[in-house]
Amino acid sequence: MMRFNVSEINDCIRTRRSIYPVQFSDREVSKELIEVMLENARWAPTHKLTQPWRFKVFIDEGKQRFADFHSEKYKEITPEEKFSEMKYKKIRQNAERSSVVIAIVLHRDEKASIPEEEEIASVAMAVQNMHLTCSAYGLGAYWGSGGLTRHEEMKQFLKLADNERCLGFFYIGYPAMDWPKKTERMERRQVTEWIEE
Ligand SMILES: Cc1cc2nc3c(=O)[nH]c(=O)nc-3n(C[C@H](O)[C@H](O)[C@H](O)COP(=O)(O)O)c2cc1C
Repeated sequence: MMRFNVSEINDCIRTRRSIYPVQFSDREVSKELIEVMLENARWAPTHKLTQPWRFKVFIDEGKQRFADFHSEKYKEITPEEKFSEMKYKKIRQNAERSSVVIAIVLHRDEKASIPEEEEIASVAMAVQNMHLTCSAYGLGAYWGSGGLTRHEEMKQFLKLADNERCLGFFYIGYPAMDWPKKTERMERRQVTEWIEE
């Protein structure tokens, strides 16, 4: 007996796409919908139930403050020869064109009792839960790990503790275009080995 409509779930998973803020419309994502995403995130699997995900949700003025900080700090700390005007604009646009930006944070438990890669895996699964929720609701989203994701300045801006680390940002908005087509994927047989005896 199937518990859910598997055909719809398969479609939801297989047609999930990264959709970028440049492709978003001005339509705002409701707080209720963001709450559904965050609720689904917290049901991801987690070794010893450490629940290593933390989310910082930027909306309204908070989102503008994030856009200003991320782009201006990038400009400030990047040596002139490395600075890219295009990257500066993209960093700003990513947040300004999104309806919501969620900072994805890894939070290690006090005893760091689980290997870090397992905790990162758990956080990634929580993000996938959010992304699949977006796929179900027809929302655009992508996980971006560029800009100042790994910089100390970002850690301070996000007010992260010593046992916390930013893994990137989840940018969300309504797509202004048709739902994107499939991206490239390796065939199943290229990534699978069946051991039968
Ligand atoms: C951990 C992680 C970090 C990512 N960082 C970036 C990024 O910095 N910039 C970007 O354009 N896409 C980023 N992506 C999105 C991937 O480019 C995207 O998932 C890939 O192209 C496959 O497309 P799909 O998500 O539509 O299947 C990231 C995805 C993951 C899982």
